[in-house]
Parts: sequence; C-alpha cells; structure tokens
Amino acid sequence: MTNGYRPEIIQRAFIDFIGARLHPFWSLTTPKLRLIARYTLSDDLIALRFETNRAFKQQVSEVMGGWQGGQYLDFRVCIDGVYHQRSYSIVGLAHQLLWWLDDTTESHTADQRHTVTITIKPQGLVSDYLTKQMPLASVVDTSLPLGQFTLEQTSILRQQISENDKLIPLLFIAGGSGITPMLGLITQALSNGHQVTLLHYSRTVSSKLQHQWQQLNNAYPDFTYHLIHTEEPTTYLAGTRYLSVEGLLSLNLPLADTQIFACGSQALLAGLYKAAAEITPTEEQLRDNIIVENFGNVLADFDNGSNQTFDKTIPVEEHTVYLRSRQRRFSSDTTILAAAENADVRLAHGCRQGICQLCRCNKVSGVVKNVQTGKVSGDGYESIQTCINIAMTDVVLDV
Ligand code: FES
Repeated sequence: MTNGYRPEIIQRAFIDFIGARLHPFWSLTTPKLRLIARYTLSDDLIALRFETNRAFKQQVSEVMGGWQGGQYLDFRVCIDGVYHQRSYSIVGLAHQLLWWLDDTTESHTADQRHTVTITIKPQGLVSDYLTKQMPLASVVDTSLPLGQFTLEQTSILRQQISENDKLIPLLFIAGGSGITPMLGLITQALSNGHQVTLLHYSRTVSSKLQHQWQQLNNAYPDFTYHLIHTEEPTTYLAGTRYLSVEGLLSLNLPLADTQIFACGSQALLAGLYKAAAEITPTEEQLRDNIIVENFGNVLADFDNGSNQTFDKTIPVEEHTVYLRSRQRRFSSDTTILAAAENADVRLAHGCRQGICQLCRCNKVSGVVKNVQTGKVSGDGYESIQTCINIAMTDVVLDV
C-alpha cells in the first residue's frame, strides 16, 4: 500500500479500459471526437464538425478555458490497422456559432459548446480518408488544442496592450488552405478591437469564405480583405499575383508597428520574408513582426533565438565554426545561427524556423545535423540553413 500506490489513477485507467470496450467514444482521460457533419467550404477545403467527449470538454473548458483562434488539434487516425498522426486547424472559437450554420436549425443538433470543427485540404491518405471515407459517428483520438499561432503569443501585442489603449493593426497573410488557422484568429482579433487586414492568395474561389469576409466587413469597419485569385489579374495587388514589396506598401499600413501572421506555402512565406527584408533592410526589422504557423514544427530542443529554451540536457558538443570570407570564428553548441549571434556575429536570416531560406549559405567542410529532420550532412561542400543546423564537427562556411 506504500511506495507510490495511487488507487485513484488505477481506478480511472481501469474504468477507461472497460469503458473503451463498451463504447469507443467513452473515456475519463483521453480526449476523443465523434464526427457529426461535413461541409464543403471551397473546391479544396472541407470542414469537419465533431462532437467532443467528456474528457475533451472537461480538460478544454475547465483546465484551458476554451481554445484560442489559430490553434490546432493533433489527430490520431487508424486506417487499415495503421495509426497516423496529423495536425488540423480548428475553425472558429468555442461558444461561437460557425458562420455558415443557421442558428435556428443545425445548431440544435449538437450544442455548439460541445463541438469542435476543423478544416482539411484533401491531399493525401489521411485527409482523403477523413474527408471522403470516414463514416459519420466515427471516433478519433485527438490532442487538446495546441499551437503558438495565437494573439496571446505576440510580444508586440503584449507590450502594446499593457502600454497603450490603442491596439496595433494586424495583417493576416494566407496562401490557399493556409487560411484555415486564420479564421478563428481574425474573428478574435476583430472582437478585441484590432484593425485587421487580410491578404488571401488562392487558386480557387470560395463563396462560403467570401460571404464570411463580407459579413465581417459589414460588422467591423476596421476589417479590410483582399482576395487574390492567382488566375484572375483584376484581383492582383500592385499588379502581381505574388506577394511583393509594392503589394505590402499599397496596403497603407504602418508596417513597422503591424503584427503579421502568415500561413501558406514555403514560396509565399519566403516571399514575405524577402519583401520584409527589402522594406526594412537595416534598423527596423519588419521580419521580427512576422509570426508563421508551422503546426508545431519548431526547434523544440534547440535555442532558435526566439522564446524557446535550449534544452541543455541534450548533449551537443562545442565545435568551432569558421567564416572563411569574413575570417571570423566562434564556438557553437547550438544552431549555427544562434551560436553566431551569441558571439556577436550577424548572419543573414529571416524566420529562424527553416522556412524562408534566407539563412541558407554554403558549407565548405565539416558535418552538420538538421535538428528538424535529424539528417546528418556529409563533410564536403553543400548548401545548409544555419537556423536549423548544429555543428557536429568543426565547420567552415563560405560566408
Ligand atoms: S532563417 Fe528562415 S530558413 Fe533559416
């Protein structure tokens, strides 16, 4: 009866074990979702609405107090006996009716407070299964809401909220299905009183989404949106289908004081960082105002120069990095970019997350390891990203 015996945990696990055999939706501890409806938002965007089980409700509403706009869920889906894990953005906010639902009809089929809706672009095994094959009433295991792509995470916002009643403008830039995490964020930002601008680059037109933007525009005069359809030149910003310096400047926003949220293809994000670097090449770093959604694909174990802490329990030996052209050297026991900055050496960079490619440079010799993929390089000449690579031996860069 001593030495760690904890009867309440054994009881809950035992009850869960029995309960799961009686009904897959039932659990005291594991958050689960049951599919209750599918909606087509556009040619390439499907929304799935789920009823939440008791464990999800309790942990989300009682412990977390709901979820934030911009967060996502990690699903664990079993297909043909194999489990797959995928991340999907949550649409809208808890306690808020989805804009496409009629509040006199569908909302009564399941209390809005006890449902959660995600959006999926059908492309690949799991998303195809979820959007086309999974029968209604099927149950999936899920994480609790996750993600840092939220209004709360912005240092610029926190600063302004405490110092100044006037909230800073927010610019949301989305490409294709990258719009999905923005849906809840934009609603939340508008109800908080922000001036909000949306740029959405897309190949397809979604009348449901357009309707939502127009509704928000009617309700909030401070909301402006630009839908750029890549095949329709009349919708282009500053005459181009791509994100450009001219396009950003044409928005007439005080960019240095604007928080930018971006989600989309690597090309779109790289274009954004490139444009930001051109607009503020030196002092006011517009890139520092950019927050990118990458569904948790961050450098969890390594100091990337942001708010993440480097886990010193992971053994990383110290090695020397030598910059051949500049004839500078520094010690590195973290990512090469962070190590350079610790040594007061400035290297080109943008996102610090392996997305924008602005930190890419040529390695002359030495071995590096990519902390996102775990891939170890060869020891010869090759192109590397300094923000996501650590030195495994002494390294010479062509910088
Ligand atoms: S700083 Fe963006 S990829 Fe390295």
